[in-house]
Amino acid sequence: MFELAYFSNVSENTKRFVDKLGVTHHRIPVKASDTPLMMSDPYVLIVPTYGGGDDATSVPKQVIRFLNQQQNRDLIRGVIAAGNTNFGDKYCRAGEIVAMKCQVPLIHRFELLGTPYDVEVVHNKMETLWNQH
Ligand SMILES: Cc1cc2nc3c(=O)[nH]c(=O)nc-3n(C[C@H](O)[C@H](O)[C@H](O)COP(=O)(O)O)c2cc1C
Repeated sequence: MFELAYFSNVSENTKRFVDKLGVTHHRIPVKASDTPLMMSDPYVLIVPTYGGGDDATSVPKQVIRFLNQQQNRDLIRGVIAAGNTNFGDKYCRAGEIVAMKCQVPLIHRFELLGTPYDVEVVHNKMETLWNQH
């Protein structure tokens, strides 16, 4: 199974979702002064959307910094996005942007902490992706 790299801000909604998955995971640091995360195996990225509907700031800057590392960009195999449906057509926009820029599939979108259904879907989709590689 692929490992996970994820970002979660101080509100930690995404962290709480990741904790329910039971998959090996690595957190992208919140503070620029923390040691950067470098992945060494293929992984799926989980990214919450920020920016309040503005494409330019939808992907958290910490995630942009992480993906600016060539090694991390080479190893990404898929993306899962988090968001809040209050943002309408910008719901989970960060996932669409990362999928397009990194040329990987957007395998799922979930709201806030996710539901047991989201956990099941993510497991199934990650397994399908794994079997395709
Ligand atoms: C300032 C701000 C901007 C946000 N912008 C969006 C947005 O454009 N689209 C979206 O779907 N969710 C948006 N959200 C919702 C977050 O993606 C959601 O709360 C997510 O669960 C945060 O994850 P985290 O607590 O792990 O950082 C925004 C939240 C905040 C606080």
